[in-house]
Amino acid sequence: MTAARIEPIDACVFDAYGTLFDFASAASRCQDALGDKAGALTALWRQKQLEYTWLRSLMGSHVDFAQVTADGLAFALASLGLDDGEGARAGLAQRLLDLYGRLDAFAEVPAVLRAIKESGRATAILSNGSPAMLASAVESAGLSTMLDLVLSVEQVRIYKPHPSVYRLAVARLGVPAERICFVSANGWDAAGAAHFGFRVVWVNRSGQCYENLPAGPEAVLTSLAGLPRLLGIG
Ligand code: LAC
Repeated sequence: MTAARIEPIDACVFDAYGTLFDFASAASRCQDALGDKAGALTALWRQKQLEYTWLRSLMGSHVDFAQVTADGLAFALASLGLDDGEGARAGLAQRLLDLYGRLDAFAEVPAVLRAIKESGRATAILSNGSPAMLASAVESAGLSTMLDLVLSVEQVRIYKPHPSVYRLAVARLGVPAERICFVSANGWDAAGAAHFGFRVVWVNRSGQCYENLPAGPEAVLTSLAGLPRLLGIG
């Protein structure tokens, strides 16, 4: 069952990568070098990037998300036999990382953020991304004026879904967890945020199955377009 309304909410907190920003847009701009491996590269890069966040958090060996992203990409390129290219493939890793710094926002994002902000609710990002990565992504997608706060895990130096990350949003927004709507396209992040105590919306953009974790979202959308209505806006 998915909730018809999530109210009362004072602040909306968004995951960044996959939720606001389309990380597939990096590889899709390198079709010349990746050919039919662009989709496989996007999937494996994302998988390794996330695995490294969890592994490093468990190992107590934090590095920032720019490093984890580069490390995950190196693994993915090597696995797919794309790491020693010439011609179009020369400098491919750096090209992909540069593109990761200025990803496209999903088409509905600006209008949704604007509607939420105009309703008087606070808007924020809470992301694994480093402050520099997030600043670049927000700026290049033209979202700066639509966000009140951009929060990075670098303030606590451990990755989602550690509760200290979610606690950061409560502390910085000054809004209790039960009046924060947390929105993520990652099922595991939705579970972590719900377990922490947020009201959670899962934007299941790619038809993933439910995660078998100790908490879950109250509502599921296929894009952010339905979010204002869920919050009782408009
Ligand atoms: C983030 C990743 C998990 O932005 O998508 O935190």
